[in-house]
Amino acid sequence: EYIKSRIKTPESIVKKLKSDGYESTIENMRNYINDIAGIRIICSFREDIYFLADCLLEQDDITLIQRKDYIENPKENGYRSLHLIVEVPIFLEHKKKMMKVEVQLRTIAMDFWASLEHKLKYKKDIAFDQLTADLKKCADESAALDLKMDAIRKEIEVLKAPEAKAIGREVKHLPGGILNENQ
Ligand code: GTP
Ligand code: MG
Repeated sequence: EYIKSRIKTPESIVKKLKSDGYESTIENMRNYINDIAGIRIICSFREDIYFLADCLLEQDDITLIQRKDYIENPKENGYRSLHLIVEVPIFLEHKKKMMKVEVQLRTIAMDFWASLEHKLKYKKDIAFDQLTADLKKCADESAALDLKMDAIRKEIEVLKAPEAKAIGREVKHLPGGILNENQ
């Protein structure tokens, strides 16, 4: 559907290093911060996520460093997305450097939930804790919607497939028009 990208600000890099207990050095930034470059890929369907992730990792200049599947294993709060940390070559004036990138793949429903949850997280003063269960419920409900959409897509694909059309025609001419399970 669409792609968003962002570069972590120097302030936010320093803040993260500090909170993880590291000094602010270029070396530590290279070694311990995986998401200086971030890409978010928003897909229509859940299955597209895995298809696109495979396509990306098939590229021979991309190396997978880490994979976290928060779709198969959602976070306790209901957060879902597939996260990949990959290493890609970037080409500077006189040299090539390897750079880590965090790639987040999600459906529109997962992104909708994550965006709103992110906004609400910063409004802690309005009794956020009480809303945790409600937010988790919203996450589960939007995940159920994703599954329904995938099922609808599959049904449409079956109906559109040429084989299905051929079978449809055959069925019409079969005596009784009944197919057994294997057909
Ligand atoms: P960070 O220190 O936050 O980078 O955590 P991590 O290194 O364990 O990485 P993880 O893969 O768990 O998540 C990193 C990114 O995923 C965050 O910067 C967010 O963009 C997104 N993310 C992870 N968990 C949540 C969540 O609970 N809610 C939302 N809205 N986004 C999340
Ligand atoms: Mg991270």
